[in-house]
Amino acid sequence: GTTLGASAAEKGRYFGTAVAAGKLGDSTYTTILNREFDSVTAENEMKMDATEPNQGQFTFTNGDRIVNHAISRGMKVRGHTLAWHSQQPGWMQRMEGSALRSALVNHVNRVASYYRGKIHSWDVVNEAFADGTSGGRRDSNLQRTGNDWIEVAFRTARAADPGAKLCYNDYNTDGINAKSTGIYNMVRDFKARGVPIDCVGFQAHLTNSAPGDFQANLQRFADLGVDVQITELDISGSNQANAYAAVTRACLAVARCTGITVWGIRDSDSWRTGQNPLLFDAAGNKKPAYTAVLNAL
Ligand code: XIL
Repeated sequence: GTTLGASAAEKGRYFGTAVAAGKLGDSTYTTILNREFDSVTAENEMKMDATEPNQGQFTFTNGDRIVNHAISRGMKVRGHTLAWHSQQPGWMQRMEGSALRSALVNHVNRVASYYRGKIHSWDVVNEAFADGTSGGRRDSNLQRTGNDWIEVAFRTARAADPGAKLCYNDYNTDGINAKSTGIYNMVRDFKARGVPIDCVGFQAHLTNSAPGDFQANLQRFADLGVDVQITELDISGSNQANAYAAVTRACLAVARCTGITVWGIRDSDSWRTGQNPLLFDAAGNKKPAYTAVLNAL
């Protein structure tokens, strides 16, 4: 293939990017988006603060801009994200306990129901595990409602949109470490108890390289009976092109690695300001990292 999306499709995978609704009027941006990618993730527009800014008042205008752009062009949509400790609306940040649990269930139900039939994969829960060596959950207002909050979110999402794949998504989980093993144990437990989970997302915000056991880590999750996806890939540093190729090859080597999403189009679109971690430069030109990915696909 001559584009990322077409080349990935030849291997039975998708190749996606994060998209900002406010940039869809930028013709350089949209030309690259439409030419190269066959999946999109809303960079911020489907997060809890964006979709429920006031309790019980849901706003889907900006999410819809991205979903409509994608679906009208045959692109997949990854939903990001139904439940997260970060980017909560103020009213939710101030909530605790059973009131917060009810608000969480209502939020997951309303947002997943609104987009029912349009979402390929939902990041149902984002970043719920702690960094470091504990292998346990991150402290948050959601976690303090009870350890079952994650499975409640997944069951609620399944009921609201039975056709969407339901993913757990996190960062610093790309290699085999205490955090990824904590998530591995949760997924194994969910599969054993029939909690609906279909996929695990690996954000892959990297510098210079992926961990040496990246492919082995993807494979151990796949062996639990879930798909794996690279969900927010960006790589800074002088070894960028080689590292992008290695990540691409690792995904292709794992049968259940179903797709790769980069976290933005041009370096100037990246949340990692000044790090130039993406596949296109600020002018929209293909970088060596782009060619490395295309050649690896
Ligand atoms: C980032 C966005 O790219 C920024 O625009 C925003 O200010 C903060 O969030 N992990 C995630 C993403 O799951 O939602 C984050 O996106 C990057 C880290």
